[in-house]
Formats: sequence, C-alpha cells, structure tokens
Amino acid sequence: MTQIFSRHADSRLRLAAGLGLAAVAFLAVSGFFVARSGAAWQVGVPARQPIPFSHAVHAGQLGLDCRLCHAGVERQAAAGMPTAETCLGCHRQVWNVAAQFAPLRSALALDTPVAWASVSRLPDHVRFHHGAHMAASVPCETCHGQVRTMPQTVRAETLSMQWCLDCHRDPDPRRRPAGAVLARGGVPGDTPPEPLTGLGARRFAHFGVEISALTRCSTCHR
Ligand code: HEC
Ligand code: HEC
Ligand code: HEC
Ligand code: HEC
Ligand code: HEC
Repeated sequence: MTQIFSRHADSRLRLAAGLGLAAVAFLAVSGFFVARSGAAWQVGVPARQPIPFSHAVHAGQLGLDCRLCHAGVERQAAAGMPTAETCLGCHRQVWNVAAQFAPLRSALALDTPVAWASVSRLPDHVRFHHGAHMAASVPCETCHGQVRTMPQTVRAETLSMQWCLDCHRDPDPRRRPAGAVLARGGVPGDTPPEPLTGLGARRFAHFGVEISALTRCSTCHR
C-alpha cells in the first residue's frame, strides 16, 4: 500500500494544532483585557456638541455652581441639562454676534431642548438615581472626574457594572461628610459621613446568604 501521508505529517499536524490553540488563547486573553480597558468604555473621548461649551470656563474660572445648569441633581434621577434660557441669561448681550450660539436661538424659537450630546449615558436596562447618591454624600467627581477643569466634557470612569459594584459593595470609604459634596475646594473638617439609612443599610437574607440591597440586580436593573 502506498503511503498517503509523509512520515512527518503527524508531528506537523500536532504543531499546527498547538499553534492554533495558542493563537486562540492569546486572542481570548487580549480580547478580555481590551474589553476591560478604559478605551473600550469611551473614557476620555469627548462628544460632538452643538455649542463648544467649556466647564473649565464656566464651572472653573467663573466658579458657577453645578446646580445652576444641572438643577435636578439633588432630588431627581436625572441631573438635568441647561435650557437655552439658562445660557442666555448671561449671553443675551453677545449671542447675536456669536455664530456659535445659533443652536440656542433655534432651541428658543422652536421651544425644544438643546441637543447636548451625552458622554455618560447608560444602557436602557440600567437605572440610576442622582438624588440617592447626593443624599448618600457621594461627590460628583467620584463618578465624573474633575469636570471643573475640562474644556471639553469627557467620561472619566468606565461606568461599567463592575465599577458600580466596586462601590456598592463597600460605599463608606467613598462617601464625604454631609454638606461637603457640592462644596468647592477642600472638605471642611473631617467629620465622618452619617451612617446610611436607605438601601445601603438594608440587607436581605437570600437562600441563607446575606446580600446587601445595594448589590441586588433589581436595584440597578429594570
Ligand atoms: C453654565 C452651565 C453649566 C454649569 C455651571 C455646569 N455644567 Fe455640566 N454641562 C453643561 C452643558 C451645556 C453640558 C453639555 C455639553 C458638554 O457635555 O460639555 C454639560 C454636561 C455635563 C456632564 C456630562 C453629561 C452627559 O450627559 O454625559 C457632566 C457630568 C457635567 N456637566 C457635570 C457638571 C458638574 C460636576 C458641574 C459643577 C462642577 C457642572 N457640570 C456645571 C452646563 C453646565
Ligand atoms: C455615583 C456616581 C455619580 C455621581 C456621584 C454623580 N453622577 Fe452624574 N451621572 C452618573 C451616571 C451613571 C450618569 C448616566 C445616567 C443615565 O444614563 O441614566 C450621569 C449623568 C449625568 C448627567 C447627564 C444628564 C443626566 O442626568 O442623565 C449630568 C449633567 C450629571 N450626571 C451631572 C452630575 C453632577 C453635577 C453631579 C454632582 C452634583 C453628579 N452628576 C454626580 C453618575 C454620577
Ligand atoms: C453666569 C453667566 C453665564 C452663564 C449662565 C453661561 N455663560 Fe457662557 N460665558 C460666560 C462668560 C463671562 C464667558 C466669558 C469667559 C471668558 O472668556 O473669560 C462665557 C464664555 C462662553 C463661551 C466661549 C468660551 C470660550 O471658550 O472662550 C461659550 C461658547 C459659552 N460661554 C457658552 C455658554 C453656554 C452654551 C451656556 C449655557 C449652557 C453658557 N455659556 C452659560 C458667562 C456665562
Ligand atoms: C462611589 C460609590 C458609588 C458608585 C460608584 C455608584 N453608587 Fe449607586 N449608590 C451608592 C450609595 C452610597 C447609595 C445609597 C445607599 C443608601 O441610600 O443607603 C447608592 C444607591 C443607588 C441606587 C438606589 C437608589 C434608590 O432607589 O434609593 C441605585 C439604583 C444606584 N445606586 C445605581 C448605581 C449605578 C447604576 C451605578 C453605576 C453606574 C452606581 N450606582 C454607582 C454609591 C455608589
Ligand atoms: C450597582 C448597579 C448594578 C447592579 C447591582 C447590577 N448591575 Fe448589571 N449592569 C449595571 C450597569 C451600569 C450595566 C451597563 C454597563 C455594563 O454593561 O457593564 C449593567 C449591565 C448588565 C448586563 C449586560 C451586560 C452586557 O454585556 O451588555 C447584564 C446581563 C447584567 N448587568 C446583569 C446583572 C445581574 C444578573 C445582576 C445581579 C447579580 C446585576 N446585573 C446587578 C449595573 C448593575
């Protein structure tokens, strides 16, 4: 009988299979790290805005309070975005000359909100509530970074589920003394934050295992 495969065929096959497996493993491992890197979550990437608004100018140089433009942040789920009126309260004098304020003019004329692009939007299946975090004394910069120094607004943290859970498992070290959350600059005194009375304090027994309400799926998912 003639030999169909050469004498080395077997070892070549093994070598090829070995290399193939190594390549698959390498791709899987690097894929895992790429997916978990900040870049995959758009960290540091600015969005295209209708008007080149700068927090560095308004919240930094001018020292405006976040709540002037994000009025819902203390009580509501959404922080809220400024209307054309909020900007024009100051910019009415110059808005005619500045072509960059055209989107404000049309929003005002059509009575529509200004179409700000978001760098923080979560998927629809996730629920978030600013008021709850403000009441628990978590400062803006923990989640949004140093917005006051940003000429263009970017995402500072991944906002991934892992990131939320890292804090929800043990929020106390990340909380500030009550009243210091919206204060500019240094934290006055170091009185520890008040103990949590809401979800963070409540624990549920689930199949004999204690789980904090803060790490329950239904706390963040609809
Ligand atoms: C004068 C109005 C004004 C003030 C004051 C202001 N912001 Fe904003 N903020 C805006 C506008 C306009 C946008 C949308 C354009 C942009 O993202 O740059 C925005 C966007 C944001 C976003 C991104 C929202 C998203 O959907 O991704 C965050 C976070 C934010 N602001 C935080 C803050 C914080 C923290 C402060 C206080 C230190 C602050 N802002 C003060 C007007 C303001
Ligand atoms: C615990 C983390 C956390 C803190 C603290 C926090 N934010 Fe946010 N913020 C988020 C997340 C997450 C989103 C995206 C919410 C969504 O898509 O439902 C967001 C969205 C926003 C937006 C976009 C509009 C909106 O509400 O959807 C603005 C503006 C904003 N935050 C401003 C602020 C300001 C100002 C503060 C401090 C006074 C603050 N945030 C504190 C996590 C936080
Ligand atoms: C409290 C008054 C006030 C409010 C409210 C305000 N601005 Fe301003 N804005 C200023 C002043 C003052 C400057 C000039 C700062 C400088 O150049 O030193 C300025 C500068 C600007 C500039 C030019 C920035 C640059 O890079 O030089 C733009 C664009 C702008 N504002 C847009 C907005 C928009 C959009 C809003 C509403 C979300 C807004 N402003 C709300 C006071 C205000
Ligand atoms: C730095 C800490 C921290 C981070 C980051 C954080 N949280 Fe929270 N979260 C808290 C604390 C503290 C509470 C309040 C617990 C209490 O009131 O007992 C809370 C409460 C909540 C609540 C309950 C609101 C209610 O109904 O009372 C939701 C929903 C929530 N967080 C969602 C999220 C999501 C989604 C993310 C990620 C995008 C996130 N959180 C990131 C600390 C954090
Ligand atoms: C503290 C808030 C929080 C809790 C608690 C939480 N999640 Fe999430 N989850 C998120 C956020 C934010 C996202 C969106 C970002 C992401 O995909 O990581 C998400 C995304 C997801 C996704 C989609 C992942 C994807 O790749 O699109 C699934 C599935 C999910 N969560 C399941 C769960 C389950 C199951 C639990 C309970 C064991 C749970 N989550 C608890 C915040 C939370």
